[in-house]
Amino acid sequence: MDEEQQIGSRPAVSDHQTDTAGGVLAVILTGISFIVIILTFPISVWFCIRTINEYERAVVFRFGKLMKGGARGPGIIFINPLTDQFVRIDLRTVSFDVPPQEILSKDSVTVTVDAVVYFRIRNATDSVTKVLDAGRSTRLLAQTSLRKILGTKTLAEMLADREAISHEMQSTLDTATDPWGVYVERVEPSSAAPTRHGSRS
Ligand SMILES: *[C@@H]1O[C@H](CO)[C@@H](O)[C@H](O)[C@H]1NC(C)=O
Repeated sequence: MDEEQQIGSRPAVSDHQTDTAGGVLAVILTGISFIVIILTFPISVWFCIRTINEYERAVVFRFGKLMKGGARGPGIIFINPLTDQFVRIDLRTVSFDVPPQEILSKDSVTVTVDAVVYFRIRNATDSVTKVLDAGRSTRLLAQTSLRKILGTKTLAEMLADREAISHEMQSTLDTATDPWGVYVERVEPSSAAPTRHGSRS
């Protein structure tokens, strides 16, 4: 009975234990660090301020724990160099090419398609805490969804419904990248060129 209970609630229990013990220690160490900063004030202040540009946000961790209140910035932010670490996140739109891929259309024509994808970080905190490399993950996902979506279209549909395909890819990608705090703005597939079977007929 005792063991059963322990197994069932293990994650919560161990979380809670580290919370209490580590939490008290963190508060004490943070207090000491602030005393040190105050005692050495005119010098220490230069180590405690960081400038975050208009288009950036800083995700701050104190002793490895995400600090409440969301990402900081833009402007001057206070970082306690003894206890805090931060990650600087760029919120500007990034574009990348999905390299040309050979895709088999629904009517068995091999076509070469590439695309340009535009995305930006919508939630800086999520882009740091939920995914290791938001940009790279978005790139890889764009490749596979280009394949997946175009594989369900005939060559005629690919050529005719350019706008619809672009929109479908954008919404599919955006939904998939949402947990990472990434917003996919646009996907522009290039013209689908038949490579083998269709080219001579
Ligand atoms: C980012 O996502 C977290 C949840 O993961 C949420 O608490 C926070 O409010 C979001 N921030 C913004 C700016 O939307």
